[in-house]
Amino acid sequence: RTVYLNGAFLPENEARLSIFDRGFLFGDGIYEVTAVLGGKLIDSAMHMARLQRSVGEIGGRLPITTDEIVAIEKRLVEANHLTEGLVYLQYTRGVEDRNFFYSEDLEPTLVLFTQAKTLEHVAAVEKGLKVKSMPDQRWARRDIKSVCLLPQVLAKRAAKAEGFDEAWLVEDGMVTEGASSTAYVVTRDGRIVTRANSHATLPGCTRLAVLDLAREAGLVLEERPFSVEEAKTAAEAWLTSASNFIVSITNIDGVAVGDGMPGPMFKRLRTLYMENAR
Ligand code: PDD
Repeated sequence: RTVYLNGAFLPENEARLSIFDRGFLFGDGIYEVTAVLGGKLIDSAMHMARLQRSVGEIGGRLPITTDEIVAIEKRLVEANHLTEGLVYLQYTRGVEDRNFFYSEDLEPTLVLFTQAKTLEHVAAVEKGLKVKSMPDQRWARRDIKSVCLLPQVLAKRAAKAEGFDEAWLVEDGMVTEGASSTAYVVTRDGRIVTRANSHATLPGCTRLAVLDLAREAGLVLEERPFSVEEAKTAAEAWLTSASNFIVSITNIDGVAVGDGMPGPMFKRLRTLYMENAR
C-alpha cells in the first residue's frame, strides 16, 4: 500500500514515526475513519468538519487544509485501487522528548492510510448484529474523536469473548453509544430514537446522514437517551458508523429484538443510505 506521512506518499514499509510522537506516548491525537464505496469517499464533508472540530477542541491545528486532506485521501484511494473500504486519518500533536507540557511550536504528525474492506454486501445486513451492554468507562469528552481507545478496545474484547459483535456502553442506566458506533431504537409506534449530540457521545457522521434521510422520508425522530430495557422491548434496534453504514441489531444481551430479524424501518433506511452513497 501507499500511505501518507507528513507531506510524503510512501510505501507502507518505508513510513517511519518517532518513538517520541505524542500520539504514541500520550494518546495526544485525533483520528477519523471515512468509508469508500465505488472508489468514492462517503460523507466526506462531515468527517472533515468533525476532524477540524476535534483538533480545535484539543488546542491543536491541522498542518494543511481539509481540502488538501481530501485530495490526499482521493490520491491514496486511487494509488491503492481501493473501490470499497476505509480511509484512516490520524493527527497527533507532534514529536518532542516526553513531557506532559508541550511546546506550542510542534510540527503536528499527519498519517493517512487505506484499508480494503467489504462494506455493502455483508452478512450483518441480512442477519443483524448482537450487542452486549456494559458500563461506559470512557472519559467525559467523548465528542472529541481521540485516539485514546483503551476502554473501547477492552469493551469490544469482552463482548467478542461472549460471542457478541459490538458493545453497547451504558451510563446512569442509559445507553450512550456503541464502542465504535451510534445506537438507536425504533419504538413500537415507529419513532426513531437516538441520543442528541452532547459531550457524552461522538457526533456520528453516519448518524447525521441517516437522520437527514429519515427526515426527508417523513419519519418521526426523537433525540433522547434510552435504556437497555427499552431497547430489548423495542420494535427494532440499529447502529450506524462509517464502517457499517446502518446495520440492524437483532440481539441485546441474548434477548431477541422484535422477531430477531432486521426490521422494515432498518431495510428502508439502509436502502436509502446505499442509494444516496452512489
Ligand atoms: N468509529 N461512536 C463512536 C464511539 C465511534 O467510534 C464511532 C465511529 C461512531 C460513529 O461515527 P461515524 O458514523 O462518524 O463513523 C460513534 C469509527 C468507525 C472507528 O473507530 O473505527
